[in-house]
Amino acid sequence: MKGRRFTLRSVAGDIRWMRVSYAPWMTAETAATLPAELLAEAEAFLTLFHAETATPGLAGRLAQVGTEVAHTASYTLTPAELTYGAKMAWRNSARCVGRLYWQALEVRDLRNVTAAPDVFGHLLAHLRAAFNGGHIKPLMSVFGPGVRILNPQLIRYADDPLNADFCGLLREYGWQPRGERFEVLPLAIEAGGQVQLFDLPKDAVQEVNIWHPDCPALADLGLRWHALPVISDMSLEVGGLRFAATPFNGWYMQTEIAARDLADADRYDALPAVAKALGLDTRRERSLWRDRALLELNVAALHSFEAAGVKLVDHHTATRHFAQFEEREAQAGREVRGQWSWLIPPLSPATTPVWSRRYRAREEKPNFVRCPYSPKG
Ligand code: ARG
Repeated sequence: MKGRRFTLRSVAGDIRWMRVSYAPWMTAETAATLPAELLAEAEAFLTLFHAETATPGLAGRLAQVGTEVAHTASYTLTPAELTYGAKMAWRNSARCVGRLYWQALEVRDLRNVTAAPDVFGHLLAHLRAAFNGGHIKPLMSVFGPGVRILNPQLIRYADDPLNADFCGLLREYGWQPRGERFEVLPLAIEAGGQVQLFDLPKDAVQEVNIWHPDCPALADLGLRWHALPVISDMSLEVGGLRFAATPFNGWYMQTEIAARDLADADRYDALPAVAKALGLDTRRERSLWRDRALLELNVAALHSFEAAGVKLVDHHTATRHFAQFEEREAQAGREVRGQWSWLIPPLSPATTPVWSRRYRAREEKPNFVRCPYSPKG
């Protein structure tokens, strides 16, 4: 172990900041600011990668990375390293309750894709592959340098107050809303310093209409949601390298949609209308109409997705899976970091196993870093 450490550091000591020919489309930005930091992060990651995946040849790989960094001030992850690094980043995401499945993440290595129309084509393919006929699979696409997706998620609605600022930005690029309900926003793709907008075709966006088995009036509210949460404003950081365009998805938990997106007063604010559809007394708080409407909207979301054949997990199952994740991590000798306020569901949190637990919040690397778009940089 000591010897290996020495191999890399000794190379780091020799670094001169010079840029010798390298293939820029293969190399990510470095997240570390100094070559010594980059090498330290590379070493930490590669050591874990080789140990966890039982890959031989760590010493040789460290020496190779040391040389590459000395010559190019960066280095290139192998496809296997990139894939495993992305899985680790998910495993380390302290706010995610769905981490039991971290090893199942599929990574599309698109580091050679840098032109906006090509990025768009691959995003359409991502949406199709991830939806997988309703059997949603966790998927990530890693694009090349200079690519950035300005949208916070690939699928977002124009009339969701959450997206007001982003809609303002889209307008600056010439987008005009049609003014429809649940209008899907175009993708804003930055490549080589230019931003281009692309409309998502209808068949790329799978949605589910929300209806309630015992309350036909609820369907009349015309509520719906998209099947795939594809986060697109978080950079992946692995081994001191940063990948700015790495959209990734899992599947939804129904509380995200029915207890927040559709229910929050500063989002779709649907509870008063749902309560009305259910015939509840909304004049008195003590009738608990909000709670009853909330519960039935959650029942409706689970029911509608199930009827449509689209994967959606409930919060009891998801938190039980999280407890299993914790057990497995303990067996592997790793501590699970977590942000408790994100891990507990917004509905009946005290009925779930996460409620009584506590976690240290500081996140391990590899990880994701939120990089919301701002025109200034
Ligand atoms: N909460 C976000 C939303 O409602 C999605 C976050 C990611 N969720 C997930 N299940 N992977 O759109």
